Amino acid sequence: MMDNINNVIINKRVVVVLVFCGILFLNLFSGSNGDTVGFGYSVRSVGLDSSGKFLTANLQLIKASTILGPDIHSLTLTVSHDTKDRLRIRITDSETKRWEVPQDIIPRQIHHPHSHLRHSFSENHLSSSPENLFPPSENHLYSDPNSDLLFTLRNTTPFGFTVSRHSSGDVLFDTSPANSNPETFLIFKDQYIQLSSRLPKDTSSLYGLGEHTLSSFKLTPGKTLTLWNADIGSANTDVNLYGSHPFYLDVRSPSGNSHGVLLLNSNGMDIVYGGDRITYKVIGGVVDLYFFAGSSPELVMEQYTELIGRPAPMPYWSFGFHQCRYGYKDVSDVEGVVANYSKARIPLEVIWTDIDYMDAYKDFTLDPINFPLDKMKGFTERIHQNGQKYVLILDPGISVNKTYETYLRGIKADAFIKRDGIPYLGSVWPGSVYFPDFLNPAGGTFWGNEIKIFRDILPFDGLWLDMNEISNFITSPPTPSSKLDDPPYKINNAAIQRGINYNTVPATALHFGNITEYNAHNLYGLLEAKATNAALVNVIGKRPFILSRSTFVGSGKYTAHWTGDNAATWDDLAYTIPSILNFGLFGIPMVGADICGFSRNTTEELCRRWIQLGAFYPFARDHSDKSTIRQELYLWDSVAASARKVLGLRYRLLPLFYTLIYEAHKKGTPIARPLFFSFPQDTKTYGINSQFLIGRGILVSPVLKSGAVSVDAYFPAGNWFDLFNLSRSVSAQSGQYFKLDAPPDHINVHVREGNILALQGEALTTKAARRTPFQLLVVSSSSTNGTGEAFLDDGEEVEMGGEGGKWSLVSFSSSVQGDKVVVESNVVNAEFALSQKWIIDRITTIGLKNAKRLKGYELYTKSGRSFAKHYGIKTSFDSSDQFSKVEMEGL
Ligand code: NOJ
Repeated sequence: MMDNINNVIINKRVVVVLVFCGILFLNLFSGSNGDTVGFGYSVRSVGLDSSGKFLTANLQLIKASTILGPDIHSLTLTVSHDTKDRLRIRITDSETKRWEVPQDIIPRQIHHPHSHLRHSFSENHLSSSPENLFPPSENHLYSDPNSDLLFTLRNTTPFGFTVSRHSSGDVLFDTSPANSNPETFLIFKDQYIQLSSRLPKDTSSLYGLGEHTLSSFKLTPGKTLTLWNADIGSANTDVNLYGSHPFYLDVRSPSGNSHGVLLLNSNGMDIVYGGDRITYKVIGGVVDLYFFAGSSPELVMEQYTELIGRPAPMPYWSFGFHQCRYGYKDVSDVEGVVANYSKARIPLEVIWTDIDYMDAYKDFTLDPINFPLDKMKGFTERIHQNGQKYVLILDPGISVNKTYETYLRGIKADAFIKRDGIPYLGSVWPGSVYFPDFLNPAGGTFWGNEIKIFRDILPFDGLWLDMNEISNFITSPPTPSSKLDDPPYKINNAAIQRGINYNTVPATALHFGNITEYNAHNLYGLLEAKATNAALVNVIGKRPFILSRSTFVGSGKYTAHWTGDNAATWDDLAYTIPSILNFGLFGIPMVGADICGFSRNTTEELCRRWIQLGAFYPFARDHSDKSTIRQELYLWDSVAASARKVLGLRYRLLPLFYTLIYEAHKKGTPIARPLFFSFPQDTKTYGINSQFLIGRGILVSPVLKSGAVSVDAYFPAGNWFDLFNLSRSVSAQSGQYFKLDAPPDHINVHVREGNILALQGEALTTKAARRTPFQLLVVSSSSTNGTGEAFLDDGEEVEMGGEGGKWSLVSFSSSVQGDKVVVESNVVNAEFALSQKWIIDRITTIGLKNAKRLKGYELYTKSGRSFAKHYGIKTSFDSSDQFSKVEMEGL
């Protein structure tokens, strides 16, 4: 007891000395007049909250500064282990409630019952009453016996905290002030929050923090990453784009241990990444930081999407090939495109129309001359008869026009965003518009109702949400005297510190409940997707397909995404890989880029190389701008031939793509993955920008340069087999580069040993492909057992793999036992698969060194029953076949 009291006294002295030193340093740093953005905070008291479950500390401003506005004097820091893998740190104004992302958008738990505080005092001294907190000691450690994440409050001046990993001692985040540099302090003002962490430059690799077009997937030091949703074409690199995702994945070398960090905040921000430091500069809200313990990249994604919402399931058909263009003239133009695909025998699953179909660009209307209702009805009927689908675009802006019923209903429902008490008037394609307020329940109801009315007239299959940043063709003048329209800290909007109101709804506009656009701006695309998803479930009653340009944390729960307006350039082709991989990390696994390029004229060679790559995007759509030449895949013979080849493989892989969206929906794992997801300990994979994996074990190595007929591709250790020609393989002893042939019609796609792929046949539609028998490709390995899965359902029921649903999950495994390959299966809900009469008609095994000496196969189910017998399969074995196979009939 006595010891403890001494400790307190000693610690108090330490505090006094530190405060003195800190102020001295600050004065030296900030010059004679003492001007600096801020001086940081010190810890006044620390304790447990009233429930005794989480750490709470009171932080006191060290010295006031007026630059960027007055400081908030007293802050409350709370730390909780929300789950064993998730640590949350909140810092907010002790006295005044501030804006934060609403709970109903991202629901989050408050605390976890097992957490406890370790400190230099005995437990007895901790008060459970927040009014009677204990004075600070030097360090407070806050841990949870089940968690690998440890929080340490450092009572320095200014104060700092660290998050570290118990098991390795690795420091993940460290806000300790560095060299008394105010750039590293916590600053907390009404319109400027700064939080900075040191990073171990040599051992940390960061990914994420979008949306941006970057040439490198791994973040490179010296970047300011601005987050403010804006209609800036993705052909622009290094600027803020359509969505905001303040989340990063940090992979540490050489262990490959990974963790994730989310700053859940919807306000505009700059994130300055210097390699050895990350600094958030945010213009509002609170600090609400989440750490996801990993420690594998897959586990980080599982933990991250547990918080923000698991990715939406996608209908089976959405994995087919999509064709779109801004500028289709009329119905017969569109029908001609569909017919030409069919004539060229190139798979086409979904045909899209851009704003051309509308009457004067008004949502929920049809151009009476070029897209009249009777013709559109006939068109959708024929599309559906072909087993194809139709998706159309919607923009949020509702034309202000007294003869337009949608507008009148919107006014009646009082559904629009307001400014100065009246609907805010913007301007988009139709001219003057009002924007539905999706924070207003009436806004969502109005929108859903319009979708229903329109769907009753025209049976579209999915919706495309564009311009929802919100894009506005005008910039309204700021409200005089309001700091919202022109905040003191200028985020680097459009890379030129363009005002935040530029070509969007002004920050002083108001949403329902007096929520300012300043705070809610980045949420618009998410809220629109959420409302649209609910509407489609309600109206169509099937699994929705939505493609949204603007996104925020949690959008993946409702929508797919495409990377926006790229250009038909070789650089843009290459950048699609980092962009797509990023969206996998953001919990939006269904993502693609405009194949062949959106703006500028494409070329035959570029379009050919683009479809070769695009065929393996999770979402594969060709789309182009009005002012460019046409670029449907049948227009050049060489592109058409390549398209048949690569889409042929895509369609054979459809069961895999579909199983991967199931995995994403259950666990958050991306479909397109960086190589380090499967090989986290191979540090050479950390910097790869030009290749990616589909799932665990299919490696795509595209040509990204004009004129190239070979590709330098990195292969992590193992045997890899060319999926276009199984007799060609690459054997990497350790991870290494290989120069591979890539003639004009070829893309290298390899599957690694240890994978079992359930393939189906090629076809022109996904529906036809689903009717073909399965073939099992067992890529044997003498070192590891093979695994593979196939998720089976009807492809469109709202829930995917839900309770009581009609679905099956087949898990395959294989092992080499002496001279035999044993293939086993384990089926969850086998009744559904059997009722569908799916057939595996062939098992092909590759990868065995002595294939000719194989004696035979044994095929078992988990329960020990013969797999072959169980499914009534006739087996035969041809030992002279180089790729020894078993032909099986009947599942
Ligand atoms: C912008 C979108 O990004 C683009 O894809 C679309 O074609 C145009 N708006 C026209 O609607």
